[in-house]
Amino acid sequence: MGFSLHRLQNIGAEVRDLDLRGPLSDDLARDLYSAWLDHGVLLFREAGTSKDIHLRLSRVFGELEEHPIKSLLVEDEKELIALGEKKGAPVLFDDQLWGGFIFFHQDTSYTPNICKGSMLRMLRKPERGGDTIWTDTAKAYAALPPSLKERIADLSAIYCFRSGAVERRYGWSEHAVREAPAGHVSEVQIPDFPLVSHPMVARHPESGIGSLLISPLNFVHVEGMEKSRGDALYEEIVRHALRPEFAYHHKWSVNDLVLWDNRRTMHCALGYPYEQTRIVHRTTLHGPMQTGHYYRANVSEQSEKA
Ligand code: SIN
Repeated sequence: MGFSLHRLQNIGAEVRDLDLRGPLSDDLARDLYSAWLDHGVLLFREAGTSKDIHLRLSRVFGELEEHPIKSLLVEDEKELIALGEKKGAPVLFDDQLWGGFIFFHQDTSYTPNICKGSMLRMLRKPERGGDTIWTDTAKAYAALPPSLKERIADLSAIYCFRSGAVERRYGWSEHAVREAPAGHVSEVQIPDFPLVSHPMVARHPESGIGSLLISPLNFVHVEGMEKSRGDALYEEIVRHALRPEFAYHHKWSVNDLVLWDNRRTMHCALGYPYEQTRIVHRTTLHGPMQTGHYYRANVSEQSEKA
């Protein structure tokens, strides 16, 4: 193997001793791919010194897709989005105005085709905050009590696009996240995504390992269950998945690249003081799980869309 692997805490591995400045051989690409499947998250510390390196390394893991939120695309780059260049609406986090907070989610879970993975590159780091947490939803599923596994085996949940995290912080009682005072609007234009339904458990299409398929940021309700009972069940599952022993907490350096397998992880951007700037670029790996379908909501459900 032409690189070394060093485990991160609970999920993921850091790839070291790899020169990313030129194309990678087929053997290296194959070994990196299998390391990614094994570890779920790969960190290439300070190795993303250019946009080309980011794009070339991302393509080792599959075809890239255009992100469905076009207003985030980097100019002249269909395969790259920028987060933080356009300011989203802030939240109040422990009473401070806080930007870039994105509660736990799986990327593109508000579409029927949850993407295969994503790779993030840190371009500009805020002085404070800006960390990201990944959690291993395969490990979390394996550790569920059998009775809970049975209860959710045939359940699906309904999802919508949501970027704020105020109402839906299931399992997150550590900080008080509240609505920011009126007057702050997001600069990001979001298309109108219809509601979708995904099973709460899915097998990884490559490894075959069972995993929780949950995205609390986007959650609307559990399909076919009375709302408060469904919410309580979903919250119990999310609380379990957010246990610290399943999580890796990353403190970024500029040019870090982090790749994750979206089919067995969820992640949370912890945000940073609103007046500061944090810019990351992200690629999105095509290779949909095809677990979902559009969901026809009744009138009272429609009003739940954020
Ligand atoms: C994302 O949710 O894809 C972005 C995470 C981050 O900016 O840390």
